[in-house]
Amino acid sequence: MRKKIIAGNWKMNKTPKEAVELTRMLKGLVDTDKSDVVFCVPAIDLIPVGEVLKGTNISLGAENVYYEESGAYTGEISPSMLKEVGVKYVIIGHSERRQYFAETDETVNKKVKKILEHDMIPIMCCGETLEQREAGITIEHIRIQVKKGLRDLSASDAEKVIIAYEPIWAIGTGKTATSNQAQEVCHAIRTVLGEIFGDTAEKMRIMYGGSVNGKNAAELFTMADIDGGLVGGASLKADFEKIVNY
Ligand code: 13P
Repeated sequence: MRKKIIAGNWKMNKTPKEAVELTRMLKGLVDTDKSDVVFCVPAIDLIPVGEVLKGTNISLGAENVYYEESGAYTGEISPSMLKEVGVKYVIIGHSERRQYFAETDETVNKKVKKILEHDMIPIMCCGETLEQREAGITIEHIRIQVKKGLRDLSASDAEKVIIAYEPIWAIGTGKTATSNQAQEVCHAIRTVLGEIFGDTAEKMRIMYGGSVNGKNAAELFTMADIDGGLVGGASLKADFEKIVNY
């Protein structure tokens, strides 16, 4: 059985001081071993949040990384830097990074490989725009993103990767995909994973993200191919407890 994973994506919210306060408030509410719980926080918050999370079951996650080891890349953060401060998961290819920071399937692929090289776990995001959904090309688009993002990975590496399906029209809009819509795409993702990696696809975790909240989490997370959630806005509030303990 695949263990559920519920990750908060804090995006560009919380100064280090605020991050510590939020982590102190949440940790007692969401510390569980029933599911994997992850706080993906801004780079500057990683060290102080990591300190507060010590001794809990909650893991530390980053929201991005660069794919080179070190050098003249002003403003970037390397995989070893993340690893050294205790990061276990790294979100890659979030639609906001694709939209505002020129992330492509090719850079996503390089980052996925680097993260695995450093023994961290990539959470690789994919998702369609409203236009793509209305044009009926959602599945086709997602299949391409998954194939390109995971290009040249072995099955044993792929097994560690987590895919997050986040329909762009559902992010921060309060418009959640219905559980059937989300399941349909997550199932299509597992199908393409099966085509590439065979039986390993059954072991890989696929999360749903996009306006997940305390009310809709249970229905989404109990669908056959949905192994948890990537949560934006609701991960910054006590409500996150309802999602984790769905
Ligand atoms: P919301 O939960 O705020 O819709 O954000 C989803 C998301 O982008 C998580 O990565």
